[in-house]
Amino acid sequence: MNKPAIFAHRGASGQFPENTMRAFEEALQSGVNGIELDVQLTKDGEVIIIHDEKIDRTTNGQGFVKDFTLAELETFDAGGWFSSKFEGERLVTLDKVLAWMQKEGNHLLRLNIELKNDQIQYVGLEDKVLALINKYDLQERIIISSFNPFSLQRVRMQNANIEIGYLIFGMPDNALWIAKEIGANAIHCEAPYALSAYGEAAKKAGYPLRIYTVNAEDEYKQLMKAGVEVIMTDFPERFN
Ligand code: G3P
Ligand code: CA
Repeated sequence: MNKPAIFAHRGASGQFPENTMRAFEEALQSGVNGIELDVQLTKDGEVIIIHDEKIDRTTNGQGFVKDFTLAELETFDAGGWFSSKFEGERLVTLDKVLAWMQKEGNHLLRLNIELKNDQIQYVGLEDKVLALINKYDLQERIIISSFNPFSLQRVRMQNANIEIGYLIFGMPDNALWIAKEIGANAIHCEAPYALSAYGEAAKKAGYPLRIYTVNAEDEYKQLMKAGVEVIMTDFPERFN
């Protein structure tokens, strides 16, 4: 039985402030195979790593990501909300994380970049992310995912080879059809989908399953038996 690869969800976000350099560095130290993170665009068009459309939950600021320039966003604290011991952490750009990925010791790490454009539509997000991946020549190590199939279709139109994961929520019965239509390589789903007949059909059709967000050992074991390719977890140290 093959063990699934372990991806740290928003970095090692169970113990460190999500989507920060500290959470990514700690994930790497814990021996993960990959890191998942979320990207959006700043007011001045920079690709910034943050999950929510607003900065309220994960920084000491308030408002929409899209309404701040990168320089403004970098003034906010992105660690203190999690614990006072992480005060001083900052939001980080995709550019900086890709540069970090190239360093010695990080060479086996994969990166799952989730385009967070399913609520707010960020014009040009796909092209900017692809340009950064090209800048660092990291195409072989990147997976791009999104809940927005149109966005993934745009990625595929710009790049025939980059790995694409179609992200789904719940048990949609058309996921496999959409994945084929947009040229996705894998389905990113939750455990119930993976363990259902839908999951079986997807695997049979050649779509690996990558599962979010798995934090419990019994669920991990079930998924391992089902032959999933990746689990994304907030607590990578539990599984390594
Ligand atoms: O990419 C899988 C997972 O991260 C999707 O959900 O809300 O944690 O971004 P969310
Ligand atoms: Ca995500």
